[in-house]
Amino acid sequence: MSQKPAAGRISFRMETALRSNSPGTTLLAKYQHSKIRPRRAVKVAVSPSASAPVTLAPRYEVPRDINPLLSPYTLGEFELSHRVVLAPLTRCRAIGTVPQKNAAEYYAQRTSKGGLLISEATCVAVTGHGYPNTPGVYTEEQINAWKPVTQAVRDAGGIFFLQLWHCGRSSHPEYQPNGADPISASAVAISKGTVTTPSGDAYPFPVPRALEISEIPGVVKSYADGARNSLAAGFHGVEIHGANGYLIDQFLKSNANKRTDKYGGSIPNRCRFALEVAAAVADAVGPELTGIRLSPYSEFQEATDPETLDLNLYLVDKLSEMGLLYVHAVEARISGGFEVEGSSESLDPLRKAFKGCFMVAGGYTRETGIHAIESGHADLVAYGREFISNPDLPLRFARPDAPLNPYNRDTFYTPDQVVGYLDYPFLKDVSPEAAQLAA
Ligand SMILES: Cc1cc2nc3c(=O)[nH]c(=O)nc-3n(C[C@H](O)[C@H](O)[C@H](O)COP(=O)(O)O)c2cc1C
Repeated sequence: MSQKPAAGRISFRMETALRSNSPGTTLLAKYQHSKIRPRRAVKVAVSPSASAPVTLAPRYEVPRDINPLLSPYTLGEFELSHRVVLAPLTRCRAIGTVPQKNAAEYYAQRTSKGGLLISEATCVAVTGHGYPNTPGVYTEEQINAWKPVTQAVRDAGGIFFLQLWHCGRSSHPEYQPNGADPISASAVAISKGTVTTPSGDAYPFPVPRALEISEIPGVVKSYADGARNSLAAGFHGVEIHGANGYLIDQFLKSNANKRTDKYGGSIPNRCRFALEVAAAVADAVGPELTGIRLSPYSEFQEATDPETLDLNLYLVDKLSEMGLLYVHAVEARISGGFEVEGSSESLDPLRKAFKGCFMVAGGYTRETGIHAIESGHADLVAYGREFISNPDLPLRFARPDAPLNPYNRDTFYTPDQVVGYLDYPFLKDVSPEAAQLAA
C-alpha cells in the first residue's frame, strides 16, 4: 500500500526536486555544491495547466459502529461521527498564496458528515512561506478566498481546522520580503536537500537569520492573528504546526536551536516559543478550538534532539494545563511524507501524559488504525497519502475488502487544479457493490 523511497531516508524536498517534470532536476545537480545564487525578486507562481469541468462529490454519511475507526467521538464541542481524520496535506495549488476555486471541491470531496478535516499547512505571515503555491491566512484576499472552501466543508457536514504554519529556515530569500534571509531560532542551515523557489528552481538551503529576542513577540502574534483570521474565514478551529522541522520545531530541537538566551538551552527554554504560540493562539480563539501537531521522533529537515522524549513530555504537560483540545503526534516511522526504516519509538508516553484528545498519524492502514483505537493508543487517526487518492476513505474503511486507489506522488505537489487533485475516483465508481454494502 504505502510506497517507500528507493533507498533509506529521502526528504520531501529532495523528492520534490527529483520529480522528472521539475525544473529542479537539472538545477539540483548544478547547484548542490555551490553557494546560494544572487537574490532575485519573488516571481509569480506558474499557472494551473488544467481547467477541466469537475463533478461535485457525492455527499455521504459513514455507517456508524461498523468498527472502532467508524465509532463516534466527542471532540470538545464537536460530535465526530467517526475517527478517520484528513491529515494536513500541502498540495501546492494556492496560486500566489491564495486558495483557488477548486480547493472547495477538493475538501468537499473528502468531507463526510461529522468527519474532521485538517487543512493543508497555511502560512501565518509573509515570511512563513517556503514552498511554491502554498496558501496564507494573513491577507484579506486569502481570508476571503478561504470562505467558499470552509462553506463547502460545512455544507457537507464536516468539521474543518486550519493548520497554522511558519516554515522558518525551510525557505529561501526568494520567498522573503526584499529578498531577506529566512528566519529561525539560530543561524543553522539545513545541510542536505534543496529548497524549491517560487519560480520552481532548486537550491541548497540558505543560512537563516536568528530571530532577535525583541522580534519573537511579533512572530508569536502572527500565529494568534492567523488563528483569528481562520475563524473569520469560517474554520471551526486551528491546529498549530509544531512538527516536521518547521519554525516551532526549529526552536524545540537542539540541533537547530543554539540560542543562549531564554529561548535556548534547557528543555523549558526550548519549549518557550512553542508554549508562547500555543498560549497566544488559545487566548485568541480559545483552547477548546486549538490543537497542535508534533513530530517528536522525526528527523525530517534535520530537526533532531537527543532529549526529545523528555522535551515532549514537558511540552504536552504544559499544553494539558492550557486545556488544548488535542495533540496530533506523528509516528516515528514517518519522515515528512515518507516511511523510514528503523524508527520504532512509541508515542504512548505522550498519549498518557496529555489529558485531552490524542490523535496519531503516519503509515496507518485500515487495520492498524482499528488497532490504534481499540488498544487505546489514540482517539483519532489521521490519514494522509491514502486520503489524497481516496476522497471517500472513511466510507471505504467500512469494509475490509473495499479497494483503495493507489496514490500518485508525481501529482502531490503540482499546481494543476484538477489532475491529482479532483480526479481520484469514488468507491461508487470503482466498486458499486462495495459502495452499496458499505452504505
Ligand atoms: C503530499 C503531502 C503533503 C503533506 N503536507 C503536510 C502539511 O501540510 N502539514 C503537515 O503537518 N504534514 C504534511 N504532510 C505529512 C502528512 O500529514 C502525514 O503525516 C504523512 O503523510 C504520513 O501519513 P500517511 O502515512 O497517512 O500518509 C504531508 C504529506 C504528504 C504526502
